[in-house]
Amino acid sequence: MPRSAVPDAITDLVDAALADLPQHRRDAFALRLERWWPDLHDAVAAVYPSPDDVAARLVTTAAAGFAARPDDLHALDDRRLLNPDWFRRPDMVGYACYADRYGGTLAGVGERLEHLSGLGVTYLHLMPLLDPRPGDNDGGYAVRNYRAVREDLGTIDDLRDLATALRSRGISLVIDLVLNHVAREHEWAERARAGDPAYRDYFLIHPDRDTPDAYERTLPEVFPDFAPGNFTFDDGVNGWVWTTFNAWQWDLNWANPAVLVEFAEIVMELANLGVEVLRLDAIAFLWKRLGTNCQNQPEVHAITQALRATARLAAPAVLFKAEAIVGPRELLPYLGQGRHTGRVSDVAYHNSLMVQIWSMLASGSTRLAEHALGALPPTPSSGTWVTYVRCHDDIGWAIDDGDAAAVGLTGAGHRRFLSDWYAGEFPGSPAEGLVFQHNPDTGDRRVSGTTAALTGLGPSRRDPDGAFARLFLAHALIAVWGGIPVIWSGDEVASPGDSAWADDPEHAADNRWVHRPAVTAADRAACRQPGSDAQRAYDGVAHVMRTRAGLPMLHAEAPVDLVPGLDDGVLGVLRRHPSGTLLGLVNVTGEHRPVPHHVITHHVADPREVLSHHTIDPDDAGLSWMPPYAAWWITEFTDASSR
Ligand code: GLC
Repeated sequence: MPRSAVPDAITDLVDAALADLPQHRRDAFALRLERWWPDLHDAVAAVYPSPDDVAARLVTTAAAGFAARPDDLHALDDRRLLNPDWFRRPDMVGYACYADRYGGTLAGVGERLEHLSGLGVTYLHLMPLLDPRPGDNDGGYAVRNYRAVREDLGTIDDLRDLATALRSRGISLVIDLVLNHVAREHEWAERARAGDPAYRDYFLIHPDRDTPDAYERTLPEVFPDFAPGNFTFDDGVNGWVWTTFNAWQWDLNWANPAVLVEFAEIVMELANLGVEVLRLDAIAFLWKRLGTNCQNQPEVHAITQALRATARLAAPAVLFKAEAIVGPRELLPYLGQGRHTGRVSDVAYHNSLMVQIWSMLASGSTRLAEHALGALPPTPSSGTWVTYVRCHDDIGWAIDDGDAAAVGLTGAGHRRFLSDWYAGEFPGSPAEGLVFQHNPDTGDRRVSGTTAALTGLGPSRRDPDGAFARLFLAHALIAVWGGIPVIWSGDEVASPGDSAWADDPEHAADNRWVHRPAVTAADRAACRQPGSDAQRAYDGVAHVMRTRAGLPMLHAEAPVDLVPGLDDGVLGVLRRHPSGTLLGLVNVTGEHRPVPHHVITHHVADPREVLSHHTIDPDDAGLSWMPPYAAWWITEFTDASSR
């Protein structure tokens, strides 16, 4: 055996911390330490001036977390280590919702799992549920206490019970870990306000405007409407506090290793409750550098690697999911590139795919999507995407200017078109979205709205049949891509949105609440009423996910390639896998569009369409015509597929 790289001082620390554990547990930790120590130490050395000390504190935290880990979660760790691809398999289906808007309480969610089972859900993201500040709290993204559950949802014990119940049904619980900021009411901020210098150093506080002004020259504004600027003066600390988001969300100083260690402890505690996936909220913003937009800085990836290595020591079943809603070029590093390959997050939101789906449906052209998605570097084999049609946030038009120019568009012009289209302001648009955060300085106009509202099934039902086809197409596209397709609560029942979103004074300024509707008992019952909107959407989405689960070539290990040279209204997605090839085709227009039969048979010799059960029947010219908004998954005819 080669000599371990783990320093003796660290081994001694671990031996002391784990002295009471049985030998097999101590052996397991020692093996993991040998495996992950280089990751952990390299990462802290890239960021902190005294890496040995920081690394020792992280290993101590991991050892304590490991010692406290319940037996059933140790067993889960073993299971996951034996099946490292568990989250990349085609039977993974995600669902995201607010616990209160879905089940009232955490216990209520546990009583309403049938609706999710019908969709094949294996991954449940419950929106922020840790104790937030009172009053407006950005949908829970202003956490006051990471060790308590939001009072009206239940208790920490309820959270543990729900995680256990979900696990027993094969559903992994996903929750948010808000890393960039805490609520102004969090204990750390309170202590800083009370004058404790150790806690003042948890935040980024400047005595006057000089430094903030210097940063502001290159900083964008996230919420220009209701939280302009990135700094807020606070009397308590007598200074300007960095507040990227709202004035009461205080950015943390990640250059202070104490912050890293605090979060390592929080990760251990959540992991030991049975949380299986941590969504690293607003991860792109963690590190600030003068003269930049203070996003996607290299230190972000080193910090993620340090936390990831710590988690792997104690709770290898836990996955990290990066919430980095950034441009296509910046996205890949969140799944690990270069020296961070395989060492940071396991999953990341495919924001580019999401934006391109909406862009294709509005423009009826696949050219920009083909160019932009085709230009992305290969996805690292250790990770995969969360693919989604929309989420709880607004849709920002992350169209790269270079991509737009490459297909004869201008970035600004196309972004304007998309906002106009989805706000229903463009002639012929069936959408009924709302403009979110119009920034006259940049021309930026993001859009809020449920999938139904954006596709033509909003309050005035501008194009119901087209809307169902587009909703189905969009879900077929996220499902044919590699990764975990996540259904956003309300979309599966074709909710037009929450018409009363502005009635709550705390939400009135933030129209993202329009697309965060409750899914009620009546909605769930409507899914079983033949011909209802809810039934059409639910059965359609469930069908996509069920079909996907039976297709091994949709495992994330199969690369995603785009088929060049098709009609400009048709996107072709090729998944080549040892078990066979699948060709996914979508027609993003409202007209019939042709696909040359020889293109289909070039990839799939004996083609059979398994999603829509369309008979592939070329005309005399050798063309197969796709109906408006059709989604086809074509694979080899086999005896199994004929059943
Ligand atoms: C993430 C969340 C968003 C929130 C922000 C600040 O982007 O998705 O809802 O406003 O972080 O926490």
